[in-house]
Amino acid sequence: MKSNTAQAATAVQPTTTNDQCNGHSVYKPGLEGVVAAETALSHVDGQKGELLIGGYRLEELAANATFEEVVYLLWHGSLPQQSALETFEKSLATQRALPPAVVQLLRAAAKEQIPTMTALRMAAGTIDIDSANTNDNSDPTAQAQVILARLPTIVATYWRLATGQEPFAPNPTLNHAANYLYMLTGQSPTSAQVRGLETYLNTVIDHGLNASTFAARVIIATATDLTSAVVGALGALKGPLHGGAPGPALDMVFDIGQPAHAESYLRAKLASGERLMGFGHRIYRVRDPRAEVLAQEAARMFQADGDMALYELAKTVEAKAVALLAEYKPGRNLQTNVEFYTALLLHGLGLETDLFTPTFAISRAAGWLAHCFEQQATGRLIRPQSHYIGERKGGWLPIEQRN
Ligand code: COA
Repeated sequence: MKSNTAQAATAVQPTTTNDQCNGHSVYKPGLEGVVAAETALSHVDGQKGELLIGGYRLEELAANATFEEVVYLLWHGSLPQQSALETFEKSLATQRALPPAVVQLLRAAAKEQIPTMTALRMAAGTIDIDSANTNDNSDPTAQAQVILARLPTIVATYWRLATGQEPFAPNPTLNHAANYLYMLTGQSPTSAQVRGLETYLNTVIDHGLNASTFAARVIIATATDLTSAVVGALGALKGPLHGGAPGPALDMVFDIGQPAHAESYLRAKLASGERLMGFGHRIYRVRDPRAEVLAQEAARMFQADGDMALYELAKTVEAKAVALLAEYKPGRNLQTNVEFYTALLLHGLGLETDLFTPTFAISRAAGWLAHCFEQQATGRLIRPQSHYIGERKGGWLPIEQRN
């Protein structure tokens, strides 16, 4: 690279050589293995394949609790009693309507046909336009409720506008999950559909210090407002390496089309070095416990009221994929991850692939907000270091003398 300096540049010697030896200032690309927070919200054990949410094993919580119960658990540290739950449900249910300016923004966005996740990220910044008092954290739980209550309204409103339909007003007699499905379609969902969605929302509500959660903690640690933290986290979740679509996993099942084609299709992908979407995980070295919970829910849902041919095809694809991954990547133990069954479950609920990541966000936002409360309690700014690997330059030249 051409230097603009008159005298030769010299490399800067890191000043933290000693620290590099004591294990505190060693550069860890991607912060892998770095512990950057203490949390009582969730625990991911990748060796055992265990996920605790608010202290409870996922398997115990996900299919039994309502979404509001799990949110309450994360925000307050214990499951609610009946009266506390009712107060919380009512409070969320009465705060779902969007300020007119947000709907106006969504109408404009729908004309541009932007992806739903982009519209959500954009509109989330305006979510509390009627009550925003930036940097006023005097009642963070109240602000969190407004955010959590309105995110599904943004998604459903945008979705309907973008597909040429008028939005539905939220229905305060329905719970969080049921109302989301109602606002998408205008029809009251069945109890099996509500259960299916709640199990999904409970399953993905929190997962250790994932990228979007870390982003939320970094942002709130500057003592800014919760909306800013959620908008930043949405931006992180939107990336294909994080919340990015389980859509490709579903596309793969559709591309395969029939069980007899699964093996040749998957072999061709693996032989050409492609990754099979919905399989493998950075942390889990055994089956992702979320995959099992969602697989059971998908089975229940499809058996009750679903396209069983698609479900059977997906099961065949999964079995073939796991077997072929063992053959092509021996010793790696690549198993089904949460994305494969997310795709199947959300598709079974009638959601289009463009809604998959926004639906994930609706749940994970509750986790982000809980992490924000934890981070606020520490009162500690998050400010890591970097190692400068540039040059030490010298010999400033006025602009007309540079070449
Ligand atoms: N299909 C095919 N091969 C896979 C694979 C997959 N789904 N997942 C990992 N591998 C292979 C890698 O190519 C690599 O092979 P190599 O050693 O010959 O290069 C080996 O297994 C280890 O891969 P690595 O990238 O180190 O695994 P990771 O733990 O860092 O990756 C994921 C984790 C999730 C990024 C990876 O499994 C993946 O890309 N999965 C598909 C996308 C997906 O489903 N994402 C959602 C995750 S919840």
